[in-house]
Amino acid sequence: MSTDTLTHSIGIVGARGYVGRELIALLDQHPTLRLSLAVSTTHTGQSIRDVLDAGPPDLSFTDTDPVSIAHDCPDVLVLAMPNGRTHSFIDTLDRAGAQPKLIIDLSADTRFDDNWIYTIPELHAERLHNARRIANPGCYATAMQLVLAPVLHLTATTPHCFGVSGYSGAGSKPSPRNDTSLLDAGITPYALAGHLHEKEASAHLYRPVRFAPSVAPFFRGIVLTALFDVPDGTTVEQLTDFYNTAYTDSPCIDCIGPEMPRVQDVVNTPSAIIGGITIDPAIPGRAGAVCVIDNLLKGAASQALQNINLALNLSPLLGLAP
Ligand SMILES: NC(=O)c1ccc[n+]([C@@H]2O[C@H](COP(=O)([O-])OP(=O)(O)OC[C@H]3O[C@@H](n4cnc5c(N)ncnc54)[C@H](OP(=O)(O)O)[C@@H]3O)[C@@H](O)[C@H]2O)c1
Repeated sequence: MSTDTLTHSIGIVGARGYVGRELIALLDQHPTLRLSLAVSTTHTGQSIRDVLDAGPPDLSFTDTDPVSIAHDCPDVLVLAMPNGRTHSFIDTLDRAGAQPKLIIDLSADTRFDDNWIYTIPELHAERLHNARRIANPGCYATAMQLVLAPVLHLTATTPHCFGVSGYSGAGSKPSPRNDTSLLDAGITPYALAGHLHEKEASAHLYRPVRFAPSVAPFFRGIVLTALFDVPDGTTVEQLTDFYNTAYTDSPCIDCIGPEMPRVQDVVNTPSAIIGGITIDPAIPGRAGAVCVIDNLLKGAASQALQNINLALNLSPLLGLAP
């Protein structure tokens, strides 16, 4: 039974970052989730509406003091901090007596931890029934799993993925991967071995995947190209059918067959488009497909909202318009 009319309070730690602010803008459209806490170590005391041009008009950023968070603990707590901080933050909150009904972590800290439920809603929504701690998937790892999961049973070898991300994927803290003067008019490869999202996609697809990322001089969006083997004689139409069948009940995922998807068509939306489905006419069994998403939405904030809705037994896309 849906509980779409029940109101829940929600707090965000890391609220002024790229992901936090996307989620706050989405919450402005959500009928029953009410932002009651926005934590920032650098903007404490400032009106979130003044800083972000979104959020409730009467709410200001607060600091990370666990005692005050515990005192006014929201029903849902979203962690959108840099990697490496989740466990110590939760330990501190636990000691202060904070007991949110639901915690969702957008960092990579909990994606390999069995105490946390890792979920892409279109692939494993059933895991979220009564979930209390959710590990939200990474952006490239989301695109890899969306494009590979429906066809992985066909492949006998290791798929290879090549991802290009906008520079917001590196967060707002200055780094060579979000310095527009360095990225200007080029594509910059990085982490050719050992990228965390290679490990994440491999772990959650239960199959090794190879992955090479690059960063581009546009702000947001991911183009993820997957190359994989299929049995000789497989057709583009058959591959397209596998995607359409897998995502038939998923309004956020669109499959456009052999047509090449454009990242511009998903930016600022919670959607993914899978297309560019190809069978090489010259090399038997060589196949490819492309998935495009907005890294800040389907790769982070809107996927988190889908997961929160499902865990709270709300309609899966409440507050989201694909
Ligand atoms: N960007 C993406 O495309 C993307 C996609 C999927 C997942 N993620 C993950 O989501 C998380 C947030 O990413 P982002 O891109 O929003 O990063 P960001 O723009 O750099 O924001 C990081 C946020 O964390 C806060 N913060 C920093 N140190 C903190 C601390 N010690 N305690 C509490 N808060 C702290 C910052 O605010 P103050 O400095 O004001 O405290 C800021 O709000 C990261 O774990 C990232 O890996 C990002």
